[in-house]
Amino acid sequence: MRGRVGFLVCIWVLLWGSCFGRFVVEKNSLKVTSPESIKGVYECAIGNFGVPQYGGSLVGTVVYPKANQGGCKSFDDFDISYKSKSGSLPVFLLVDRGDCFFTLKAWNAQKAGAAAILVADSKVEPLITMDTPEEEKGDADYVDKITIPSALVSRSLGDSIKKALSAEEMVNMNLDWREALPHPDERVEYEFWTNSNDECGPKCDSQIEFVKNFKGAAQILEQKEYTQFTPHYITWYCPEAFALSKQCKSQCINHGRYCAPDPEQDFTRGYDGKDVVIQNLRQACFFKVANESGKPWLWWDYVTDFAIRCPMKDEKYNKECAEHVIKSLGVDLKKIDQCIGDPEADVDNQVLKAEQDAQIGKGSRGDVTILPTLVINNRQYRGKLDRGAVLKAICSGFQETTEPPICLSEDVETNECLENNGGCWQDKVSNITACRDTFRGRVCECPMVDGVKFFGDGYTHCEASAALRCEVHNGGCWKKTQEGRTYSACIDDNSKGCKCPPGFKGDGVNCEDVDECKEKLACQCPACKCKNTWGSYECSCNGGLLYMHEHDTCISKDTNTEVSWGFVWVIILGLAAAGAAGYAIYKYRIRRYMDSEIRAIMAQYMPLDNQPNNVVHAEI
Ligand SMILES: *[C@@H]1O[C@H](CO)[C@@H](O)[C@H](O)[C@H]1NC(C)=O
Ligand SMILES: *[C@@H]1O[C@H](CO)[C@@H](O)[C@H](O)[C@H]1NC(C)=O
Repeated sequence: MRGRVGFLVCIWVLLWGSCFGRFVVEKNSLKVTSPESIKGVYECAIGNFGVPQYGGSLVGTVVYPKANQGGCKSFDDFDISYKSKSGSLPVFLLVDRGDCFFTLKAWNAQKAGAAAILVADSKVEPLITMDTPEEEKGDADYVDKITIPSALVSRSLGDSIKKALSAEEMVNMNLDWREALPHPDERVEYEFWTNSNDECGPKCDSQIEFVKNFKGAAQILEQKEYTQFTPHYITWYCPEAFALSKQCKSQCINHGRYCAPDPEQDFTRGYDGKDVVIQNLRQACFFKVANESGKPWLWWDYVTDFAIRCPMKDEKYNKECAEHVIKSLGVDLKKIDQCIGDPEADVDNQVLKAEQDAQIGKGSRGDVTILPTLVINNRQYRGKLDRGAVLKAICSGFQETTEPPICLSEDVETNECLENNGGCWQDKVSNITACRDTFRGRVCECPMVDGVKFFGDGYTHCEASAALRCEVHNGGCWKKTQEGRTYSACIDDNSKGCKCPPGFKGDGVNCEDVDECKEKLACQCPACKCKNTWGSYECSCNGGLLYMHEHDTCISKDTNTEVSWGFVWVIILGLAAAGAAGYAIYKYRIRRYMDSEIRAIMAQYMPLDNQPNNVVHAEI
């Protein structure tokens, strides 16, 4: 079984350090952009302190000091400053490994104004993770103040950089953390490996400080289901041969199955390791029960409240105090007791058994051996446990553009849009910009304004989708209301751009009224009297004449009357003509009728032409 040999070493010697297992060095990429001779992409290892720019990148120029090349002394003593002047690139300070803690080098570089620290390895070896010093009492408080990112580079890259610099070449590079964490989907899974022990010096203090500070953000992310969080607790086990020893009995529960180091490293006083295991188990069970009731975020409340109300130093680190806190949060105490079970019994505890299994690394994640450890999307987080830095890292674990709003809040803003609009597209008239400040630094992305999405590359152009484009700031076109009338230069068909409406002139962004009178565009007949109005004109006619708009001319009202009389005459004449024609036909028919009658009468008295009657009648 793994760990059996390591067990004794671990439990007696190490309180917080790593003791065995597979440790994965988290890397980010470093791109040398000049000089040509060393141009390329290299790997470097993220240090376990400072603030890596997860999700972002940083450009700078490398400086290797002439004196104090290990960075172990303050650069003030050498009157050197690496603060970047306006318009120049930030300084990445390259120092040699050795002679002092990595953290001290980083602190000295930061104090001198460097934007990042690069440590050149002194040996030819695979990259290692630079860690914080163990238990450095006294002047260790600067470790928490380190905010610059740090990276360890290989000996060969360090040598190449130094060679280029000594040849007076400028070495520029881009530190890139955008791929430091996987970001496959819209939910981030993260784990926090922690401990209920509150008496381990600066590490315990900074751990509980982090939990308190991060609680708010963690709960929002969890409640809105952006994240799935799981707390974890490391335990060791006692080899069977020692299970009944005094040491194992004071450090372990369940007959040596689950152990934790003694908080004071002294079995004879204070709390024992097994008190810590039981409180850890209670916290793990609290999470299990709260999660089952659909409120996993209550864990953050429980852990902070327990740290505040039940500290070891007040001798309240016990069951009774813990139960007060649990009750105040309204979580089912019976279920938690059931989950804890009997610590004296010679049986497995399902929760702690699962925790021990989870300690072993899976996939891209190494074994968890350092406390506290944060694992985001199955990668170990490196850097300071600081609210802003951790939030940035979690945010970079979301698939791009699916980040929750908290990732775009002030906590993680970089203010890059304030200068020159971040180089992004901008419409000054309507004050719409494509620049967005995010945890990744600035992005140029066409915006959504009043529910209308803009499309474009975000750098040179953005445009509202055609059908709705006039809805947003009138499509960037001119629009004005005056004298109760509104005119717009935006046309809601699929056309682009702006066009001044009839009666106006201009480029569409600015339109002005056309003075039809002055420009002699209308109302120009001799009798016409022109008056310009906004968007149109009025024309009237002198001497009782009438203006005909469509013909742009004046006509006499009398002419109008004559025309109608003429029409009447035409009708009368027409009627007369029709009447005359009718009379003529009538006369003709009468005559023809009389003719035939007379003929018929006469035929009775004298023989006439032999004409049949029917023909005559047919003619009539
Ligand atoms: C918490 O609950 C969710 C859903 O109810 C489940 O998917 C998840 O595995 C639970 N987590 C733990 C650690 O039990
Ligand atoms: C544009 O909008 C931003 C914020 O919405 C505001 O601070 C700025 O003053 C505005 N600028 C102009 C020219 O209206």
